[in-house]
Amino acid sequence: MGTSYTILTKMPKVSIPQKQMTIDVEPGANLMNALLNAGLPVASSCHGDGICSMCRVRLTGDAVNPPVEFEINSMKRNKCAPDERLSCQVEVRGDLTVQTKYW
Ligand code: FES
Repeated sequence: MGTSYTILTKMPKVSIPQKQMTIDVEPGANLMNALLNAGLPVASSCHGDGICSMCRVRLTGDAVNPPVEFEINSMKRNKCAPDERLSCQVEVRGDLTVQTKYW
């Protein structure tokens, strides 16, 4: 008879201090979708394709995927700040704090 194991995975917490909210998300969740699912508005005109840069956010914490060249080029083209990320291109891997200019 085999042994079964249960892997406990901690749900990352995304804090949104401007809204006094903290949401639990699945590890690997897309940040923009997680914010929208929590009922928060996320600016976008490309619907998450990584082109418009309207979904830009400031993150505290580095528990995310690193930006790939496509995202870096989009952010340069749209004059994003160096400490911003496109929420539609962010994979949540751990606890984060998120801010935008419009919340
Ligand atoms: S929604 Fe357009 S770049 Fe993210």
